[in-house]
Amino acid sequence: MKKIIITGAAGFIGFHTAKLYINKGYFVLGIDNLNDSYDYKIKKFRIKELQKFESFLFKKVDISNKDKLSKELAAFSKDSIPKAIINLAARTGVRKSTENPNVYYMTNVIGALNIAELVDKYKIKNLIHASTSSVYGDSKEKKFTLNSETSKPISNYAASKKSSEVLLYAFSRLNNINVTVLRFFTVYGPMGRPDMSPFIFIESNIRRKKISLFGNGLQKRDFTYVDDIVSGIFKSTKLKGFNILNLGNNNPISIKYLLSLVEKNTKKKNIIKEKSPLPEDVFYTSADISKTKKLLNWSPTTNISEGIKKTYNWHIENIKWIKNIKI
Ligand SMILES: NC(=O)c1ccc[n+]([C@@H]2O[C@H](COP(=O)([O-])OP(=O)(O)OC[C@H]3O[C@@H](n4cnc5c(N)ncnc54)[C@H](O)[C@@H]3O)[C@@H](O)[C@H]2O)c1
Repeated sequence: MKKIIITGAAGFIGFHTAKLYINKGYFVLGIDNLNDSYDYKIKKFRIKELQKFESFLFKKVDISNKDKLSKELAAFSKDSIPKAIINLAARTGVRKSTENPNVYYMTNVIGALNIAELVDKYKIKNLIHASTSSVYGDSKEKKFTLNSETSKPISNYAASKKSSEVLLYAFSRLNNINVTVLRFFTVYGPMGRPDMSPFIFIESNIRRKKISLFGNGLQKRDFTYVDDIVSGIFKSTKLKGFNILNLGNNNPISIKYLLSLVEKNTKKKNIIKEKSPLPEDVFYTSADISKTKKLLNWSPTTNISEGIKKTYNWHIENIKWIKNIKI
C-alpha cells in the first residue's frame, strides 16, 4: 500500500488532504499537536472523522520536537518509504502572530527545518510545503507573480513563512530531495477555520451575532475553494527539484461581496460592526497561476458563489455541533 505523511492533519486543509489520499488508496500518517490556536473541538472532530478509516493513523506530535517526530517517521517508514511528506502544520493566522511571534517561528521555521532534515534522513523523495500569499506583503501589483517582491512581509506570520521557503531552497540544493512550496491564497470551504472570515461570517449570520468589519470592506482576497487546493497538492508530488507555485482562484473578490453572498444563502441580513483596518492586513491578494497551470495542468474549478453555497450547506447540515464552536 502506498504511504504518505501529512502534518497538520487536524487542521482545515490537512483534514481535506488526508481524506483525498485515503480515498485514493494511500495509508496516511497524520501528525498534529492539536494546539488551541482556535477552538480545539473542531480539530478533535476532524481527527475523529479521519479515524473512521483503517488506513489513517494519527500521532500527536509537535513538529518542533525533532526527536519525537523522528521516532514516528522511523516507525512509519520501516517497511516501505512514504511517497512524500506534506507539511501543512503551522501556526496560522496573521493577526495573532503579532501577539506571540515566538510560537510562529518555532513551528513555521524550526518545524519546517526538522521536517526537511528527516525527509533526508529517511530517504523520502518529496516534500510539499505550505506557504502563503502573505509573503507578497502589501503588494500593489495587479497579479502576484513568482517574480514579485517577497522580502517585505508585513506580519510575523508572513515573515516566518518566507523564512521557511528560503531555508527549504538551500536544503533542497544541498540534498537530493524534491521540494515544492505551494503559496495558498485564502482558503475556504466545509470544515473550515473558525478564525477566518467565511466561517465567522456564515456562523455569525446564522447565530444572529455582530460581524466585525475591519476597514471599508473593499479590500479584496483571492478566495480559493479547499477542494481546488487539495487537488493542487496532490498533483505537485510529481515535480522534481525545487519549485514554488501559487495556488489561488485567480479572481479576487471584496469582503463586501463575500458578505453579500452570505446573506444570499442565509436569506438574513448581516449585523455589521465597523472597525478600523488592522496594520497586519493587506489590502489585496491575487494569484498569477500561469506556472501552476503549465507545470501541474491545474486550474481552480469552483467559483466563489458555488463555493460559499457548498460551505453554507455544510454549516446547516452540521448545525447541531458547530453552534458550540467558538468564533
Ligand atoms: N487556510 C488558508 O487560507 C491558508 C492560506 C495560506 C497558507 N495556508 C497554510 O496552509 C497550511 C494549513 O493551513 P490551515 O488553514 O489548514 O490551518 P490550520 O490552523 O487549520 O491547520 C494547521 C494545523 O497545524 C497544527 N500545528 C500547529 N503547530 C504545530 C506543531 N508545532 N506541530 C504539529 N502540528 C502543529 C495545528 O494544530 C493545526 O491543526 C498552513 O501551513 C498555513 O500556513 C493556509
